Amino acid sequence: MTRILIKGGRVIDPANNTDEVKDILIEDGKIVAGHGSRVTGQEVIEAKGKWVLPGLIDMHAHLRDPGRPDKETIASGSRAAALGGFTTVCCMANTNPPVDNPAVVEYVVAKAAREAVVNVRPIAAVTKGLKGEELAEMGRCRAEGAVAFSDDGQPVMRADLMRRALEYAKQFAVPIISHCEDSNLSADGVMNEGALSTEIGLPGVSHLAEEIMVARDIMLARQFGLVHLAHISTAGAVRLVRQAKVEGVPVTCETCPHYFSLTEAAVKEYDTNAKVNPPLRSAGDVTAVVQGLKDGTIDVIATDHAPHTLEEKTIEFSLAKSGLVGLETALALVITKLIIPNVLSPAQAVEKLAAAPARILNLAGKGSLRPGSDADLIVVDPHAEWTVDAAKFASKGRNTPFSGWTLKGRVLQTIVGGKIVVRDGKLVA
Ligand code: DOR
Repeated sequence: MTRILIKGGRVIDPANNTDEVKDILIEDGKIVAGHGSRVTGQEVIEAKGKWVLPGLIDMHAHLRDPGRPDKETIASGSRAAALGGFTTVCCMANTNPPVDNPAVVEYVVAKAAREAVVNVRPIAAVTKGLKGEELAEMGRCRAEGAVAFSDDGQPVMRADLMRRALEYAKQFAVPIISHCEDSNLSADGVMNEGALSTEIGLPGVSHLAEEIMVARDIMLARQFGLVHLAHISTAGAVRLVRQAKVEGVPVTCETCPHYFSLTEAAVKEYDTNAKVNPPLRSAGDVTAVVQGLKDGTIDVIATDHAPHTLEEKTIEFSLAKSGLVGLETALALVITKLIIPNVLSPAQAVEKLAAAPARILNLAGKGSLRPGSDADLIVVDPHAEWTVDAAKFASKGRNTPFSGWTLKGRVLQTIVGGKIVVRDGKLVA
């Protein structure tokens, strides 16, 4: 029997209503009740002054596997996740081929079992080829292990298909994750539409492209069942979700660290690493996103980790790919931008980074440190300061707008199913 004792840390476990200094004992891959005095001769991790948290769960990452091993693989992406404190990563379906049939779901599950150092769970496509024309084989994808359905990267423009997808997803008790973008409205836009886009001469994307789809999906959810809205970025979207929740509509949503850490000003010098979809928004939108996190309108913080190659990013702004890497900076951005300024308590942050994703995706045994849970957990030094250096990422993606930023909060240990995969901030070989 393998036992690990994590001693004297501040255990922050909102799903179990816990925020106190105590020991955590792991036996054979599970958290067990009881005290450290029972264990001898086992691995002991001293966690005094540190936070002990349930492993973070990223419900929105692009691992590019199958199809683009030059951008990322399940192996490299899962190592980036482990270093960032994520013990479960749900990977999006816009791969090549897309995850729109049971064979590709099976490929992801099998490859993850062989090569990943954290739990990797596939999200399958809503429509075949992410084309928005015909539903994918949702039932069979679910049976192979898909934890949600999403065409992320592309909207499901047809309301009739979205409706049918919701009806199916309800039967399987898994959510549809909606990429909210009216692609007719967003058209050729490459940044947020406003004074700045006019000033620097780039075509803009109106906030309405997001909000119209948020409104549509709320209306569909009211009648047909749960929708989870991906990467919410505008004040209007936050307002719509807040009102929908008051009315009892089954809707949940996420935002990403870049939408509370950066405004559109980050693209002023045509920095393609700040080009992302939806685009970085105005200061007013950022304030609204922060307020939405604070008042609980926004349930989840996800990364939208989207690695691209140097070639795809070192070209003119309008041609560059959208997306930025996030797995290795997300927790430190949450600590630096939300916890230290008292927007969120540590427990509220853990709720959005672990407990809520586990609940929304029905991930049994995840998102909490209560006895009987899987021993997926992290030890974090919330005071450790470090400077973001993309060259040091385990991700193959170097496309971050946070290079050179000094952040607080470092993951010291990452334990997945009782196995130490990050020790003293470094991947275990
Ligand atoms: O910026 C983005 N990149 N937004 C998305 O929705 C998709 C993602 C990607 O796959 O690169």
